[in-house]
Amino acid sequence: MTAPYTAAALEPEATAPLIMALPKGRILEQCGAVLARAGIVPSPDYVNENTRHMRFATNDPNLDVIRVRSFDVATFVAFGAAQIGICGSDVLQEFDYSEVYAPLDLRIAKCRVCVAEPAETAGSDDPSRWSRVRVASKYPNIARRHFASRGVQADIVELSGAMELAPMLGLSRLIVDLVDTGSTLRANGLVVTETIADVSSRLIVNRTALKTQPEAIGALIEQFRKALEADFCG
Ligand code: ATP
Ligand code: PRP
Repeated sequence: MTAPYTAAALEPEATAPLIMALPKGRILEQCGAVLARAGIVPSPDYVNENTRHMRFATNDPNLDVIRVRSFDVATFVAFGAAQIGICGSDVLQEFDYSEVYAPLDLRIAKCRVCVAEPAETAGSDDPSRWSRVRVASKYPNIARRHFASRGVQADIVELSGAMELAPMLGLSRLIVDLVDTGSTLRANGLVVTETIADVSSRLIVNRTALKTQPEAIGALIEQFRKALEADFCG
């Protein structure tokens, strides 16, 4: 006799909790504040950096949150493993996933994606005359597209952090990285030579999930929209 199907296996998609992907690291705290204003309260373990758990229940039985790396939020949502999430517009611009729809600017974690180089070489020759340039970045696509748009081939040295070290150690002439206060650049003798894009964090949703579960996901988007409006007015 074959085993009976389990309740979970028969559970229709619409009754499983929605999954919201949230970035750990520097924007976790600011995300927590936005969630609270939207009336979403994850279990206390969500802010515990020592827990090995990655998925947390919330005060809404129809919504669980997962805590992943900032770059991975977009990937979980693009592939439909999470239906909704929060991530920086820098990450969205880097991956450019067609399945990801970003309906709301949450106006947190504001910074800029910039080109920077050592203060002593900045402005020493005309970049429009370069045919190629070596650039260290954790944004290979943004950097490549930016230089290609002006006819310059960027040879990208891909790093995951500490880009600011690359020029002084001869790894690259330029870097493309995030800048907020500019103190990291200053501490490493670099200056901004161009701003590629302004950055803030966005609410994102999977387009197919929005089509198949419009009420549940639409209601969540509305919760965030109202929280933002209240914030803006009050
Ligand atoms: P990890 O690199 O380990 O994944 P992290 O939190 O340091 O963790 P980052 O990519 O540096 O990851 O930052 C996450 C997001 O926070 C970025 O995608 C960007 O949107 C925003 N952000 C990064 N640096 C700054 C900054 N200096 N000021 C404001 N926002 C920032
Ligand atoms: C980010 C970014 C810069 C720094 C810019 O790094 O990559 O290094 O913030 O901020 P500032 O202009 O205010 O100095 P983060 O602190 O996230 O560390 P990371 O290098 O590990 O990404």
